[in-house]
Amino acid sequence: MKIILSVDRNWGIGCQGQLLLRIPEDMKFFKQMTVGKVVVMGRGTFESLPGKQPLKDRTNIVLSSKMASRDDGLIICRTLESLLQELKKYKAEDIFVIGGEKVFHHLLPYCREAYITKIDNTFPADRFLLNLDESQDWKLVSQSEWKIYDGTQFCFVKYERI
Ligand SMILES: NC(=O)c1ccc[n+]([C@@H]2O[C@H](COP(=O)([O-])OP(=O)(O)OC[C@H]3O[C@@H](n4cnc5c(N)ncnc54)[C@H](OP(=O)(O)O)[C@@H]3O)[C@@H](O)[C@H]2O)c1
Repeated sequence: MKIILSVDRNWGIGCQGQLLLRIPEDMKFFKQMTVGKVVVMGRGTFESLPGKQPLKDRTNIVLSSKMASRDDGLIICRTLESLLQELKKYKAEDIFVIGGEKVFHHLLPYCREAYITKIDNTFPADRFLLNLDESQDWKLVSQSEWKIYDGTQFCFVKYERI
């Protein structure tokens, strides 16, 4: 299982239900990595998706005790236990945990790789990921060159569980 997300310098990931910064190249990277795969998210993240619709060309799984059932292929798991059962149906390397804070917290122990887009700036944030640079369980294995979007530097970093 893998994590994919963007963080600011404080490992902030979101504010008031939205991303901190929407970087087109990051969106493209996210799409390239996840198309044809399984994306796992909490209700908060699902509700932050454009049009509150499942991501196209991916198996979408949402953890939510409250969301109404739908007939558009979205898989809703009502408990963490049923989510873990559901995830056994897929190859671990095909599963991407895409957010948000609560779901990362639940599933981080099961993840072996993390694809992090580092944004070299700070934003007001109300959702965070554990700082993997300070975690003894994770090591940085690769980092792209720094790129610039709208005056803000960002880069793509990969971590692996030690
Ligand atoms: N930077 C990034 O790459 C990135 C990626 C994704 C999201 N985000 C940001 O993160 C924020 C959304 O994340 P969030 O932390 O607020 O919400 P979230 O983790 O996406 O979803 C939280 C919801 O998940 C459900 N849930 C969590 N644990 C559960 C459990 N044990 N059993 C049943 N349901 C459970 C609950 O839904 P119910 O209330 O329905 O039970 C809960 O309200 C937004 O700001 C978004 O933009 C950022």
